[in-house]
Amino acid sequence: MAEPASRTDNRTRFEKDLSAPDPIPQEGIDAAVELMHDGRLFRYAEDRHGVPVTALLEEEFAAAIGRRYAVGVNSGGCALFLGLKSAGVMPGDKVLLNAFTLAPVPGAIAHAGAQAVLVDITDSYTIDIEDLDRKARESGARFLMLSYMRGHVPDMDAVMAVCRRHGLVVVEDCAHTMGAHWDGRLVGTFGDVACFSTQTFKHLNSGEGGLLATDDEDAAARAVLMSGSYMLYAQHRARPEMDVFERHRYTTPNFSMRMSGLVASILRPQLALLDERVARWREAHGRLVELLRGVEHISIPERSPKEGYVPSSLQFHLTGLDAQAIDTFLRASDEHGVHVKWFGREEPVGFTSRHDHWRYLEGPTDVPRADRVLQGLCDMRLPLWLDEEDCQCIAAVLREAMAEATSL
Ligand SMILES: Cc1ncc(COP(=O)(O)O)c(C=O)c1O
Repeated sequence: MAEPASRTDNRTRFEKDLSAPDPIPQEGIDAAVELMHDGRLFRYAEDRHGVPVTALLEEEFAAAIGRRYAVGVNSGGCALFLGLKSAGVMPGDKVLLNAFTLAPVPGAIAHAGAQAVLVDITDSYTIDIEDLDRKARESGARFLMLSYMRGHVPDMDAVMAVCRRHGLVVVEDCAHTMGAHWDGRLVGTFGDVACFSTQTFKHLNSGEGGLLATDDEDAAARAVLMSGSYMLYAQHRARPEMDVFERHRYTTPNFSMRMSGLVASILRPQLALLDERVARWREAHGRLVELLRGVEHISIPERSPKEGYVPSSLQFHLTGLDAQAIDTFLRASDEHGVHVKWFGREEPVGFTSRHDHWRYLEGPTDVPRADRVLQGLCDMRLPLWLDEEDCQCIAAVLREAMAEATSL
């Protein structure tokens, strides 16, 4: 790999590609190649010897994530859609959703024919408990889609107390929290259904892919049937007993959102590396946070000691800068090799869209704190391979970009 830093015009430049993921482990490549030689990439077979690889992944994933049942699907967005449907969301239902999230999340609610009711957030990017309580009461919604956007986990004791009070069914969007904990308990085990993504920039990388996990046998059977199991669901291993399927097999549509054997082959060896990856991300994130804490106009919220987070990205706030200074900071960082995303842009760019860009939303969108927080929110991807020298270099680029922005 290239040296992390070079200097031109007395400025530091980060020479590596921050968007470069880790390679797929050789074991995954070998398994995928073997499967391609065999040709049976479809997750089911009418006449098969041995256990299909997608069923093995689901079994291992359920064990790793602490749920009884798991279903592999073709994207995180589809896991969310099936999560909502299997949890009982019907067209026209209201679904509470914290306002700091990404476009596929309100998209999944729209896909289910439901209506998102936005809930405000705190200065530390998590759902605002009081607003959740108020919106649940005022809207009469029966469902909460809890999105742990960018891996930020709220006070789950408080969130779940509100959910119990209002009888909310909870679908957890764990696209950014695979392997994360709250007070020692795995995120993804608090709600009724949990949904994960294995898109390239997530904790496991299969390009596209998703997984749904639950302890509820009816939700699990419906999710399997809806994912497109035809009548081959007996081949699943992390599934409920066969008689549970009898309750649903004639009344559950097939949405054909299966996970292929190729994707599962690539994912299995990565799942075994999850704990090691979590430790690497935490180390890099911790280093960068330390280095950036002293930079003027950059503020990073403290996190609760109960939060066992998995930081595959870093968020910070720009404070006390006008639009021109923010623009200069972003441009100068970018020109020196560190691409920082900004949620305050008028127009959605890349992965930074926010609720006023989702103009199909029909429910209430009064989330004043989210509007203010997102206006100053910056976001950076943290690849797994970042070492100490990389972090030093990135921090230097950001420090110098801030000096340029504030010297105007
Ligand atoms: C918070 C969040 N939830 C869900 C998803 C959906 O995942 P996918 O891209 O696999 O559909 C994403 C995707 O980036 C996301 O950021």
